Amino acid sequence: MRIHIAGLIGIIAGASLVAQTDPGVRPGAGNIADVAQPVAGLSAADLANFKQGLARFRAVASVKGTEPASEITGLGPRFNLNSCAGCHAQPTVGGTSPRQNPQIAVAKQFGASNSIPSFITLDGPVRVVRFARGGGGGRGRGGPPGPAGRGGPGRGGPDGGVHDLFVITGRKDAEGCNIAQPNFEQAVSQRNAFFRIPTPVYGAGLIEAISEASIMSNLRSDRPLKDSLGIGGHENRNQNDGTITRFGWKSQDKSLVTFTAEAFNVEEGVTNEQFPHEREDTPGCVLNPSPEDHAAVSAVAGFMRLLAPPVRGAENESTERGSQTFGKIGCATCHSPNLRTGKSDIAALNEKWVPLYSDLALHDMGPGLEDFIDQGQARGRDWRTAPLWGLGQRIFLMHDGRTTDLVQAIREHGTPGSEGYQTTTRFNGLKPEEKQDLLNFLRSL
Ligand code: HEC
Ligand code: HEC
Repeated sequence: MRIHIAGLIGIIAGASLVAQTDPGVRPGAGNIADVAQPVAGLSAADLANFKQGLARFRAVASVKGTEPASEITGLGPRFNLNSCAGCHAQPTVGGTSPRQNPQIAVAKQFGASNSIPSFITLDGPVRVVRFARGGGGGRGRGGPPGPAGRGGPGRGGPDGGVHDLFVITGRKDAEGCNIAQPNFEQAVSQRNAFFRIPTPVYGAGLIEAISEASIMSNLRSDRPLKDSLGIGGHENRNQNDGTITRFGWKSQDKSLVTFTAEAFNVEEGVTNEQFPHEREDTPGCVLNPSPEDHAAVSAVAGFMRLLAPPVRGAENESTERGSQTFGKIGCATCHSPNLRTGKSDIAALNEKWVPLYSDLALHDMGPGLEDFIDQGQARGRDWRTAPLWGLGQRIFLMHDGRTTDLVQAIREHGTPGSEGYQTTTRFNGLKPEEKQDLLNFLRSL
């Protein structure tokens, strides 16, 4: 019996030696030190713009600009947080959700008495909520969703918009406003609430500059291999001018200026030239003339355009073998190691290879990742191949932050019906040491 137990312990110990584990978040702020770095070779004027935009990206908004230390006017009436850098924070300014969720503190700030929805917790991730269906349709509007139907979220008209978590009601700078938060618990129980975490904005100018020709020729390349793995994929396009869109979890947005203007209005409630209307115009809650901010959008978009891409961690024989395996089992057919920028008047963005590990295209990822929301050509099961550069320092993974574990993130690709199904099967069939090399490679990105 003793021998048996010893043998068993031996097996367990042996197994743990070869078990494949996510090496975890790479420590430090990487190349970025504690301040975001610009792309190399900027002119003095561009560098000054970068710094000014960085300051606006970090600036805190309050309703009337009277909250201590607030620099931007126009928070709310509805909002998810009060600064860009609060959500885009890990490993430093410009990144993704930090380990500690700042949404908890902002809920009660400056006299506010918001309740904290069950899916928002202190140990993260930062979350933004969309309702798949609802009564009224528009973003931030929408009456209560209908009862849950079979196989999908609640009935009612399509919605798809962001429903901000918090209101300014009760804040010292929002006297006279008395609106309530949406009924999130009802939406959750009706399977109508779908979450997204922040995507990082490092190297965003390079992503913006990638040419349509590069995206399309990459999509057409390696067709026999893609066909054999059941991998399709298509670009998302702007409905007005027909050009390829590329930002956001569904590649739904075209440019940094548009994304910034929308983020100011949707995440913070700050109206601006591109989005001049408050998303909630209940009397008593519109406390400033529109636009509330004239300058921040172009400054912040300019900052992100010039923000350096993530720099890789140390490479070694294991990460090198992992990189080979990443190609061999088909991960690289969607997570394309490189795309190319077109001509840009900024030298650092002009005709460069961009090692983003994404094709920027949409793929059907199966029912396990479905959110029942259409955006442009993207349907509920379609997601942009997540760029994997910077992955080594990301804490929360997948569009809704459902896991912090790389192995689980890969498993999430593998629902029957997902274009990632066969690649996941190949991953599962790897030898333990091959899996470990692949995970080490991923955390070196
Ligand atoms: C409450 C948290 C939150 C705040 C505040 C916030 N963001 Fe985001 N950001 C997100 C989420 C969530 C996404 C993914 C959105 C999606 O795909 O629907 C995102 C995505 C982005 C992207 C797209 C990057 C890519 O490649 O996909 C950009 C650019 C961006 N945000 C800029 C900003 C700017 C500029 C601000 C400040 C005006 C800001 N964000 C404020 C949560 C936030
Ligand atoms: C069919 C295209 C496709 C293939 C093949 C594929 N992926 Fe993905 N991958 C995606 C998409 C799309 C997402 C985003 C899905 C989501 O968030 O719902 C993603 C997300 C990820 C993430 C999470 C990144 C983040 O920012 O949260 C990791 C890690 C990842 N993939 C690794 C891999 C590995 C390793 C392989 C090979 C075993 C692989 N992928 C194969 C399309 C693919």
